[in-house]
Amino acid sequence: SKAAGALYRFPLVDVQGVPLMNWIAQNWSAIWTFHPDPSDMLISTYPKAGVPLMNWIAQNWSAIWTFHPDPSDTLISTYPKAGTTWTQEIVDLLLHNGDAEICRRAPTAVRIPFLEINSPPPVPSGLDLLKKMKPPRFIKTHLPIQLVPEGFWENKCKVIYVARNAKDNLVSYYHFDRMNLTQPEPGPWEEYVQKFMKGKLAWGSWYDHVKGYWKEKEKRNILYLFYEDMKENPRREIVRIMQYLDLSLSDDIIDKIVELTSFKVMRDNPMANYSFIPKAVFDPSVSSFMRKGEVGDWTNYFTPAQSQMFDEDYSRQMADVDIPFRTLI
Ligand code: A3P
Repeated sequence: SKAAGALYRFPLVDVQGVPLMNWIAQNWSAIWTFHPDPSDMLISTYPKAGVPLMNWIAQNWSAIWTFHPDPSDTLISTYPKAGTTWTQEIVDLLLHNGDAEICRRAPTAVRIPFLEINSPPPVPSGLDLLKKMKPPRFIKTHLPIQLVPEGFWENKCKVIYVARNAKDNLVSYYHFDRMNLTQPEPGPWEEYVQKFMKGKLAWGSWYDHVKGYWKEKEKRNILYLFYEDMKENPRREIVRIMQYLDLSLSDDIIDKIVELTSFKVMRDNPMANYSFIPKAVFDPSVSSFMRKGEVGDWTNYFTPAQSQMFDEDYSRQMADVDIPFRTLI
């Protein structure tokens, strides 16, 4: 009824810049001074933004959530298929003064563990690998910012975030979901576009992911990079990463790293191209991990009508931010 509606439509009150319902705002000092026990666990999400994660990640969630990084650890975070492996290779080469041999000591997933991964073999469990490594460690994650273990923020760890324009990211994820038999089945292209727009893919919504880190980048000192910038001028972006990590390498070594992390060289590097994954897991007859490595491949997949529909939805979902994504360079 109208009366009930009037009773329950609670007004919003501003609490330190965040609109919260009046009954939360009125009780704010009690909430703010609540003292958790160190053993308590907080589950935090934006309302209605549940993040679909694969069952083996969800089952191991409390171990992931309570992971304690060292202040010297660095997180490399991305939405899946935004250029994670590329960035990992750049970082490893920067750390080892461009020494290609040292950077071929093990596959990417061993050199820079994937925090939340714990299945299936032979992909090593991120937490197990991290237990055996001494800080400073570099750690990969696809978790959206609200699911990143609090210890990273408490310890003011460095965070490198890489974002890729939505359409190319979608195309890359589509092919990955086709060939990676541990991921949910992608289904037909048309349906996949819808699933992406609704955030119904593993690791959730691309829109929430890129926005979450964008909004926090100054406050949490996150280096926010774009795949398109890396393609356009890899040297410039490698230097930005180097400076963020407080490293200083000679121009010659930087040139060498540009070459070693080019798509062509990485595609043929068995320690960077995921060829160690058995064919029963990554099916190369469907697509390869190092698939194309281009900006603008989306134009080969989206029909004009799909592109228009996608763009209209994109403007709605991204209305609260102004992130300078480029779909072509
Ligand atoms: P495509 O599927 O468009 O080819 P991630 O490492 O986050 O899973 O991202 C994989 C995507 O990055 C794939 O995109 C892959 O080809 C691309 N990629 C990997 N190494 C690259 C490089 N050195 N240069 C450009 N793109 C690269």
